[in-house]
Amino acid sequence: MRRRSLESNHHEEMEKANGKPPPSRLCFLATLSAMFWIMIFYFHFTVLSSNPIGKPEQPVPFSVSAQPQRISEAYEAFELPKMKAPPRSKPSDTRQAPEAFPFTRALRTIENKSDPCGGRYIYVHDLPSRFNADMLRDCKNLSLWTNMCKFTSNAGLGPPLENAEGVFSNTGWYATNQFAVDVIFNNRMKQYECLTKDSSIAAAIFVPFYAGFDIARYLWGYNISVRDAASLDLVDWLMKRPEWNVMGGRDHFLVAGRITWDFRRLTDSETDWGNKLLFLPAARNMSMLVVEASPWNANDFGVPYPTYFHPAKDGDVFLWQDRMRKLERKYLFSFAGAPRPDNPISIRGQIIDQCKRSKVCKLLECDFGESKCHSPSSIMQMFQSSLFCLQPQGDSYTRRSAFDSMLAGCIPVFFHPGSAYIQYTWHLPRNYSTYSVFIPEDDIRKQNVSIEERLKQIPPDVVEIMRERVISLIPKLIYADPRSKLETLKDAFDVAVQAVINKVTKLRRDVIEGHEDKDFIEENSWKYALLDDGQQTVGPHEWDPFFSKPKDGNGESGTISAEAAKKSWKNEQRSQA
Ligand SMILES: *[C@@H]1O[C@H](CO)[C@@H](O)[C@H](O)[C@H]1NC(C)=O
Ligand SMILES: *[C@@H]1O[C@H](CO)[C@@H](O)[C@H](O)[C@H]1NC(C)=O
Ligand SMILES: *[C@@H]1O[C@H](CO)[C@@H](O)[C@H](O)[C@H]1NC(C)=O
Ligand SMILES: *[C@@H]1O[C@H](CO)[C@@H](O)[C@H](O)[C@H]1NC(C)=O
Ligand SMILES: *[C@@H]1O[C@H](CO)[C@@H](O)[C@H](O)[C@H]1NC(C)=O
Ligand SMILES: *[C@@H]1O[C@H](CO)[C@@H](O)[C@H](O)[C@H]1NC(C)=O
Repeated sequence: MRRRSLESNHHEEMEKANGKPPPSRLCFLATLSAMFWIMIFYFHFTVLSSNPIGKPEQPVPFSVSAQPQRISEAYEAFELPKMKAPPRSKPSDTRQAPEAFPFTRALRTIENKSDPCGGRYIYVHDLPSRFNADMLRDCKNLSLWTNMCKFTSNAGLGPPLENAEGVFSNTGWYATNQFAVDVIFNNRMKQYECLTKDSSIAAAIFVPFYAGFDIARYLWGYNISVRDAASLDLVDWLMKRPEWNVMGGRDHFLVAGRITWDFRRLTDSETDWGNKLLFLPAARNMSMLVVEASPWNANDFGVPYPTYFHPAKDGDVFLWQDRMRKLERKYLFSFAGAPRPDNPISIRGQIIDQCKRSKVCKLLECDFGESKCHSPSSIMQMFQSSLFCLQPQGDSYTRRSAFDSMLAGCIPVFFHPGSAYIQYTWHLPRNYSTYSVFIPEDDIRKQNVSIEERLKQIPPDVVEIMRERVISLIPKLIYADPRSKLETLKDAFDVAVQAVINKVTKLRRDVIEGHEDKDFIEENSWKYALLDDGQQTVGPHEWDPFFSKPKDGNGESGTISAEAAKKSWKNEQRSQA
């Protein structure tokens, strides 16, 4: 027997090392005890190792030096150690067949031509009500300043708007709160045509948590443990589900109708802003859709702010688009907003000055207290009377106003690429010149460039083509009424869900092929989002100066963004007063 020979070998070696014949009992006992340990070790390495004694000819893995590294890399890419169910492949297979992946069944549905939902199934987690329904029930407590109960009515659309001035249509218009996407999106999901109760065929997993409502409750006057509680509770719940293990949560997505900075608290200092949801390891694997995403992070994605228009059928959209085409627009450009006197780098003051001086600009100044600036009909009326609508950043990069203006067929003028071009890459064309005008902030700030002159240089026929482009985008930028369903048009929800599905599907294929991008640098997320299909690498970009960050060493978004979030909250307080 092999065992015996090995024993005797070792015995011999021991004796040889000893150099002389066993002189005493003591020596004999020492030898015996050494033999005992050798047998223990031998047993450990032969019997307990995966290499069965009966097949001594099989190569022993630890004898190879270069191979194991390659294997372990591959295993890492394939996430094999984390798989729940072991692959049912033939024992002779040394490499993992595609069947080995727990999402293979889901991918296969794409090839089923008789299944109209193949590759598009969404599984929705059945979360405990504390993560969603209870927040609606306690809607009075969702905001310090606003009674959100009004805005959570009508499936999140808010109270209907009367069409007294004839600015809206007679139906489909609501006084929608800018932070209501949590509820609207969740309710739209109920109308999604390819929901499944079988998570093994799902293209993506939806987490119906009202992340925006959750943090809105606690942004002011609550300690960090209160602010983080629901987020921690949620990831704890999710990670215990079998669905989590399929991809470590990388096929999961959720929605928060707020800006990303509310979920990116950098430290555990009580004075820091927001919660740390988006920094939790589990949330780093998920995709969160927010109305403003971080240029430097890969786990959030921009989706449109809600407008006031929530049509219930295609026809309502077509009618609206036709009307926007035919309007007479008496102003060259317009602006609705407030100056930011306490922000030294804001160009809003200059924009307001320029507008006041111009005979072809219409201004709706938003100041404290009652103002037409907060009346949906005044705002929409102005946008409908303008060729161009100025959309400078406010406290953070983005504004709801950009979507209201495009809905009115007004060509947006952006001053920072973070206000739209790098945010809504799922919903807006890659070539921003086709539907908008870009005037870099510094042109205004440093060179006092005349906006009026710039816009007058655009020939009328080009303006018309651009406006038509804006009007053609309307369906993709609005959230349809979640209580009914558009017949053929894809709305902002449909576009976002398809984009998530595409992302997860690509990731799954990359995992199978071992193609995951190991060189991905998260800080360059905004550049990756701008890549065309097929492009892989990012390099220097003309917009680098817009997204250079203070070198704070921790590679995170820095304090400027946290400041922005804080101020945007102040602004919220002002505009809801
Ligand atoms: C293909 O889809 C149809 C319709 O959903 C379904 O009945 C059928 O079982 C599917 N075929 C396979 C092989 O999964
Ligand atoms: C809502 O807020 C009020 C006052 O701030 C408080 O008394 C009440 O307990 C809260 N309700 C819930 C359900 O949190
Ligand atoms: C945070 O606030 C909650 C309630 O407001 C309180 O119960 C809790 O003890 C506080 N935690 C810390 C660490 O201060
Ligand atoms: C996130 O995904 C990676 C890769 O699949 C996995 O290794 C990790 O465990 C996941 N994180 C969590 C918290 O599940
Ligand atoms: C973007 O659109 C503009 C205006 O239509 C056009 O002049 C330009 O060539 C386009 N650029 C690219 C890269 O397609
Ligand atoms: C910008 O130019 C206008 C006239 O073109 C002038 O009235 C104004 O003072 C200038 N503003 C600054 C800040 O230079």
